[in-house]
Amino acid sequence: MKVTVVGAGAVGASCAEYIAIKNFASEVVIVDIKENYAEGKAMDLMQTASLNGFDTKITGSTNDYEKTANSSIAVITSGIPRKPGMTREELIGINAGIVKTVSENIIKHSPNAIIIVVSNPMDTMTYLAHKATGLPKNQIIGMGGALDSARFKYRLSEALEAPASDVDGMVIGGHSDTGMIPLTRLATRNSVPVSEFLSNEKLEEVAKATMVGGATLTGMLGTSAWYAPGAAVSAMVQAIACDTKKIFPCSTLLDGEYGLNDLCIGVPVVLGKNGIEKIVEIALSDAEKDKLANSAAAVKKTNSLLEI
Ligand code: LAC
Repeated sequence: MKVTVVGAGAVGASCAEYIAIKNFASEVVIVDIKENYAEGKAMDLMQTASLNGFDTKITGSTNDYEKTANSSIAVITSGIPRKPGMTREELIGINAGIVKTVSENIIKHSPNAIIIVVSNPMDTMTYLAHKATGLPKNQIIGMGGALDSARFKYRLSEALEAPASDVDGMVIGGHSDTGMIPLTRLATRNSVPVSEFLSNEKLEEVAKATMVGGATLTGMLGTSAWYAPGAAVSAMVQAIACDTKKIFPCSTLLDGEYGLNDLCIGVPVVLGKNGIEKIVEIALSDAEKDKLANSAAAVKKTNSLLEI
């Protein structure tokens, strides 16, 4: 099982590291346009193999996609990250060109690869990757909901004073500060609804903190976060590589599901060897449906800026 990670920045390198540590892939190829940068990150990571006990072979490549040939999964992290005060949507100008070129290069050498898009604005970049490659809808997946749900569980665990492993919850909608929809109604602590433990005000606070989770970290770090994004992608890669059929909320091309069409936005999907194996339609409350419709309208507005 060969995995390509395009972009040797912090998110790409964390993703490669977590994939290797989980020891399910035979090979990870990191690609970057900066001369020798991916090779350097790969060498540094390989020098952790004996310490961390993994057998995954990690190599680097300076923009040579022949080295990515026959990958089963390819992750696109390339492009610029946001700076404090910026929205993800403001990155569209530079990142659109990069994501288009990168997705075309990937499928030239790995036409059957499942592509996971991380670059921002993620929902729009996932839609662009679809338009640029014409791949079937199961083959291109946007990473956003997996990360946002992990942040939701972190915030819930703080509020509940419980370990995150005891908490379950999901965020659907667009991967943006205003478009995320943390489904507090369905969140649980060890199968007990969190509303049994937390007031509506507290749950509202948790949801708000979740939605600006990326912006909060960008303000603290001066650039966007990498550990949780890298871990979220690696969890998706593992679900596909190991055909686990786990459910993740992911940005997926909708064709009538949830009453939405012709956009990529976060909804629950089953991940397995074919990428998106199934879109799971859950019953939403009227308020949640309204939020999803508003979030979809915002994603479509950003999509309309694409020159495709
Ligand atoms: C974040 C970036 C990856 O939310 O969008 O941290």
